[in-house]
Amino acid sequence: MADNIDTRFSHLRSHTPQNTKNNFAPDQQSVDLEPLTESESAGKRGFSRRSFLSGLGAAGVLAGAAPLANAAPVLEPASQEQAETGGTGNVTLRINGKDFTLRNLDPRATLLDTLRERIHLTGTKKGCDHGQCGACTVHVNGRRVNSCLSFSVMHEGDEITTIEGVGQPGNLHAMQAAFVEHDGYQCGYCTSGQIMSAVALLKEPIGPSDEDIKHAMAGNICRCGAYTNIVAAVRQVRSRA
Ligand code: FES
Ligand code: FES
Repeated sequence: MADNIDTRFSHLRSHTPQNTKNNFAPDQQSVDLEPLTESESAGKRGFSRRSFLSGLGAAGVLAGAAPLANAAPVLEPASQEQAETGGTGNVTLRINGKDFTLRNLDPRATLLDTLRERIHLTGTKKGCDHGQCGACTVHVNGRRVNSCLSFSVMHEGDEITTIEGVGQPGNLHAMQAAFVEHDGYQCGYCTSGQIMSAVALLKEPIGPSDEDIKHAMAGNICRCGAYTNIVAAVRQVRSRA
């Protein structure tokens, strides 16, 4: 079994972040990732691949959708390391309509790491950490930004929106609902970034065709290859906007 899996995935080994192509681009080939059969996945762990993935997928669409209304502003003591490396003093970030004050924030901290590690908004995912996959996409003043490429200290006074601020269980954004309806995810790891880009492009001056959607979504890579369903979800929401 191990040999078979090695053989099956060997063509993906060259897909480092530096050379990965985004399959949204119309002129690029899709990754031919064969799905495992149900019996291959079920096995000794006692659960099926499908049940495992459906759980992850839903988690991606609703990523980190724990209610934020009661989230308390974060005030954490500076660590010794931060003190030694020159923390910035208090920085207040406005995220999903709520202010979070961070004490002695490391000036080198990316917005992605601050969201995930300091504020515990883990719906925003870290994929490549190099600006190449789009998994970390958030909105800053309504525009999509790769949060792994942006320093937190630069965003005091900005309106930052994460996937947790887009919709909540029972009150999904139309794009979240469309991703569920069209199965726009497989593992779900890229999904929150895909949804953040898809929501932003609703207000961007792009053309009406599927090719326009693919071009606008070209910064978001899905290694599972759920592109067809993602485009269907975006198309549906655009047609109703
Ligand atoms: S984590 Fe890949 S673009 Fe930011
Ligand atoms: S659903 Fe798995 S990477 Fe996109």
